[in-house]
Amino acid sequence: MSLITQTTDDVTSIQLIQPDRVDEWLATQGGSARAWLAKQQFRAGSGEVGWLPDDSGNPASVVVGWDGQDNLATLGGLPFTLAEGVYQLDQPLSELQLLGWGLGAYQFDRYKEAKRQPAELLVPESQDAEHLANSVAAIGLARDLINMPADELTPSRLAEEAVQLADTHGGSADVIVGDALLARNFSAIHAVGRAAADAPRLIDIGWGHPDHPRISLIGKGVCFDSGGLDIKPASGMRTMKKDMGGAANVLGLAQLIMAAQLPVRLRVLIPAVENAISGNAYRPGDILSTYHGLTVEIDNTDAEGRLVMCDALALAAEDDPELMLDYSTLTGSARSAVGAEIAAMFSNDDALASGLIGAGTELDDPIWRMPLHQPYEYLLKSHVADTVNSASSPYGGAITAALFLQKFVGDTPWAHFDIMAYNTRSRPGRPEGGEAMGVRAAYQYLRGRYGH
Ligand code: BES
Ligand code: MN
Ligand code: ZN
Repeated sequence: MSLITQTTDDVTSIQLIQPDRVDEWLATQGGSARAWLAKQQFRAGSGEVGWLPDDSGNPASVVVGWDGQDNLATLGGLPFTLAEGVYQLDQPLSELQLLGWGLGAYQFDRYKEAKRQPAELLVPESQDAEHLANSVAAIGLARDLINMPADELTPSRLAEEAVQLADTHGGSADVIVGDALLARNFSAIHAVGRAAADAPRLIDIGWGHPDHPRISLIGKGVCFDSGGLDIKPASGMRTMKKDMGGAANVLGLAQLIMAAQLPVRLRVLIPAVENAISGNAYRPGDILSTYHGLTVEIDNTDAEGRLVMCDALALAAEDDPELMLDYSTLTGSARSAVGAEIAAMFSNDDALASGLIGAGTELDDPIWRMPLHQPYEYLLKSHVADTVNSASSPYGGAITAALFLQKFVGDTPWAHFDIMAYNTRSRPGRPEGGEAMGVRAAYQYLRGRYGH
């Protein structure tokens, strides 16, 4: 825990200072403070740290450069730029800024001993320490699951993690495995996952009072995406352990909702599969039936995410929830459109979309809406089935993937996040590796809409 509530004897205080106020502020300091900061070449750049001495010349307190914005970056770099120890702020900061510290303290140390522990911050009593801890834990869960390699985080392990989360919060869990998927008409999930050593499965979690408004979260759980018979090149396959990032995001969001006891009836659906190659792998040209009933001609076995998601979305839509949110590492095209650091979002509901975007802006969890442009439907036409799984043109690939999913959701209010689920570089509060994207925003939106 890097955000703590119990004070200790040895606490170092931190003050923030903006670059344009440095000179004015230095003038109020003693000569020795000025000399220390000059030697440290302190200029108050964002996240820059300077130490100040006490009267006996020992390092006693810290100044940190600040760009004046309220975001994760304000404190996000400090857990590892400051020495281990306990710190406190000498001015009130926002919950978001404190969260930056908590998220910046993350390290994935399951396979390599951590070199050091993060510095700890004392959370002021005026803050909601419990919500902060819940947020850090939920994002940490999502990051851990994404960072775990595919030989450990198999479909069965992903299911175990999901069931455990449901158990912890008094939810129910049902997992449909292997051939039982066929018996229940989840043919697309089965087709994508059947070639793998670990059987495909559909995880179904329920939580909350049945009379509360129903919301459903659906997450793409492709534990490894080799591309299938349309195999990916090495460069494209290298990061595909993260292709269950949607599932990880959804579990993080579910954890937030359950920990806060939001008065909703929650359903979480995760198709968990590995897109592998074997003699029984599904092939280009195969025609799949789906849970919904539409038939799908396989154009490309690497467009597997939309196949597993279409069965889960159709099931989710059946109980007519007030809203459905899906998170999927669905297309490379979304990354071309908005880059790796923004969640691309599609929605059939304008109020839902703007609510999510507003919450994202407020919480430094950027979301950009993309169009469900119906005229591009023609790109999904098949001569032999109701639709193809992959469009005949690569243009607008994130849009055509979203249009494919939309065929399975009907009129249910729905937002679809096409996410990277990964930080390709470290930023303050956002260490390189697995990441939750659009999750804090969605929770904030749900809390505003359904909160007590
Ligand atoms: N999991 C990938 C998409 C992906 C790639 C997400 C890189 C994030 C980073 C997905 O299953 C995929 O392979 N999509 C293909 C679809 C294509 C075959 C129509 C893509 O985007 O290239
Ligand atoms: Mn793929
Ligand atoms: Zn994929």
